[in-house]
Amino acid sequence: MSDYLLAIDQGTTSSRAILFQRDSTIVAIAQQEFQQFFPKDGWVEHDAGEIWRSTLQVCRDVLDKAGLAASDVVGVGITNQRETTILWDRETGEPIHRAVVWQDRRTAPVCAQLKRDGYESRVVEKTGLLVDPYFSATKIAWILDHVPDARKRAEAGELAFGTVDSWLLWNLTGGRVHATDATNASRTALFNIHSQSWDDDMLDLFRVPSAVLPDVLDSADDFGRLDPDLLGAPLPVAGVAGDQQAALVGQACFADGEAKSTYGTGCFLMVNTGTTAVRSENRLLTTVAYRLSGETYYAIEGSIFVAGAAMQWLRDGLGLIRNAGESLELARQVGVDNAVYLVPAFTGLGAPHWDPNARGAIMGLTRDTGIAEVVTAGLQSVCYQTKDLIRAIQNDGARLRELRVDGGMVVNDWLMQFLADILNVRVDRPRITETTALGAAFLAGLQLGVYSGTDDIARLWARERRFDPVMKPALRESLYAGWLDAVERVRNH
Ligand code: G3P
Repeated sequence: MSDYLLAIDQGTTSSRAILFQRDSTIVAIAQQEFQQFFPKDGWVEHDAGEIWRSTLQVCRDVLDKAGLAASDVVGVGITNQRETTILWDRETGEPIHRAVVWQDRRTAPVCAQLKRDGYESRVVEKTGLLVDPYFSATKIAWILDHVPDARKRAEAGELAFGTVDSWLLWNLTGGRVHATDATNASRTALFNIHSQSWDDDMLDLFRVPSAVLPDVLDSADDFGRLDPDLLGAPLPVAGVAGDQQAALVGQACFADGEAKSTYGTGCFLMVNTGTTAVRSENRLLTTVAYRLSGETYYAIEGSIFVAGAAMQWLRDGLGLIRNAGESLELARQVGVDNAVYLVPAFTGLGAPHWDPNARGAIMGLTRDTGIAEVVTAGLQSVCYQTKDLIRAIQNDGARLRELRVDGGMVVNDWLMQFLADILNVRVDRPRITETTALGAAFLAGLQLGVYSGTDDIARLWARERRFDPVMKPALRESLYAGWLDAVERVRNH
């Protein structure tokens, strides 16, 4: 049997396909960016058709690049931007609206009302989430209320809802499978993470008809077979997980207390809490880490909406740098002791503040502030935000000595050292930083017998470099105090 696994990683700004070998070696990567739509302040949409077409294209490209046929591949794993909401017609397979993206804040007023009406504790108790526009539930209701006839058609069973994994699965299987996995379901605010089923109470509260919902399977499971016309072979889809959960698997954080932080568009820090759903007292999320053979593992998650996107803005929005690599040089010139703070609250603040109405700011400007200081502040904001999360996690009682990092930004050594310094935690960068896609491949491999269990996978994890904290406590505290002050000023309490 060949040992190639195909991972589809459908992210917020691009669709990617990566072919791995059993030992986690990357054979080939294909990637395609797609259009972002910003129709109004705080609104973010994607064309669901383009998401599908770009995904199919990168699957074809990656096989071409590797010189392989689909029949050489054992199976497929899917990982995806989470919460992003798509509704489509079950008959034609056509989306009835553009995908409403996880970053989209259009339902902030509905969420504010639900909070005022005192519903948040019920939502937390059942779903592990908070009442925030981030999650799918209010996005589904918004589409049903704004597309003519949609609510009526949904109730009649004519429409299907899916996060991006379900949408891709539907298309990959030629419309035969309407399913998701427990990690993606756990991000909708409609799924009871304790009973592992759709929750009638939440469906009522958010006004979502149950007829639109997909079946919820394990993260390693039989998700059906590819329509053979697409890639030339009816490959099994055997693993599905939201991208942050897939990264947790790709980082082999299987033990209670093991943590990873992924730096992509946003930053998402997750700590595995084993089979116990730990409730955060500090406004972090309780979420499904993965579900294997019917057993659910949980995580505490801190979600930050803007990390890499801040550097993208410095490059494309302000034109201060030509590429992300330049930021490393500028930060080295400025050094850590930078009095400028950039709070990238472009789409509000996520954990632990959850303030959808906050907006970004640059503070501490003086006559000698230049491009270098502002860019460095952008990099530092990523670390300060991670510190906000770590503090909340520590206040929840978790002891965190090491953090495994991944995502595009972690190649920046200066950033990783500042991260270790400001967190006062050891930062481990793995040999393979494509952990999101790797996690999806691992899950598919588990289901298909390529791996015998999570121990087998954990043996493949290898560190490339460790960053130890060396900063003096007084400097750490004064820098972080400056950050807290800056955040306080942008908040819209
Ligand atoms: O919850 C949103 C998250 O899944 C998006 O991840 O990597 O596309 O920024 P990413």
